[in-house]
Amino acid sequence: MNRIKGGNVYQNEYQKRCQAARDAFASRKVVNELFNEEVDPKLMKLFMISWSALSSGLTQPIPEYLKRAGENCAKKGVAEMAAFFAQHTEEEDGHDEWGRDDTRKLVERWNKEEPEFPLNAEDMLKNNMSPAVKRYHKLHENVIDGDSPWAELAIDVEIELITTQYGPRLLQSCVRSMGEDSLADVSFLREHVRFDVGHTETNFETIHKLITKHPEYTDALVETAFKALESYADFLDDAMSSAKKIFKQISASVPLGFGATSKKVPISLETD
Ligand SMILES: [Fe+2]
Ligand SMILES: [Fe+2]
Repeated sequence: MNRIKGGNVYQNEYQKRCQAARDAFASRKVVNELFNEEVDPKLMKLFMISWSALSSGLTQPIPEYLKRAGENCAKKGVAEMAAFFAQHTEEEDGHDEWGRDDTRKLVERWNKEEPEFPLNAEDMLKNNMSPAVKRYHKLHENVIDGDSPWAELAIDVEIELITTQYGPRLLQSCVRSMGEDSLADVSFLREHVRFDVGHTETNFETIHKLITKHPEYTDALVETAFKALESYADFLDDAMSSAKKIFKQISASVPLGFGATSKKVPISLETD
């Protein structure tokens, strides 16, 4: 696990109160399954495809959300947070395309390795707004348009912290299931693991300064952090259930050459 310097340096009310939310995230079934259990290599490949496709949906409106959060902070006279969000907007630009590119590369890899069960990346990308993705967007909307638009920071803090804490292990799982060269096809994850340590340091410092100046903001920040972590675990759930649905279809079919089916299996990425 990567160590975040700020996690030790900034022991404040926010960090203390968020521990319960981070623990709840860690104990979610899907998180345990992905990070503490042995996942079938094929299921892992499908998870990464579905995670990348849904990540493109998840990240699509984020630059717009950050821009609006900044504008609303400016309107409420919280200039430092207006500046923070304005700067962060650029960082998150184009992430949806990034997720799309990885999805296409991973599907291409899958189709080479599993020619009897071809997947269609474009179909998957058409279905990238799963129920949890929509709920995650709604959370942003509620925060930005609510009384405490600066609480958007708590979503940033927690999601980027997840990347630093869980991302390296997910990369290791990619290498185990698809080989070292698959790292080229999970660039969205790989690069976030590389950069979110620095972003998390900045986030922790920003939140520390904000609640030192405005201790009355802490409640809204903590409340948003709880919702963000729950929402991201739901998102992982959606990605995993899509992957499992495909995995089940595959496991139930006998590939060409074993006599049971001569048809290519039509596979879709839809969440219930
Ligand atoms: Fe990012
Ligand atoms: Fe980041």
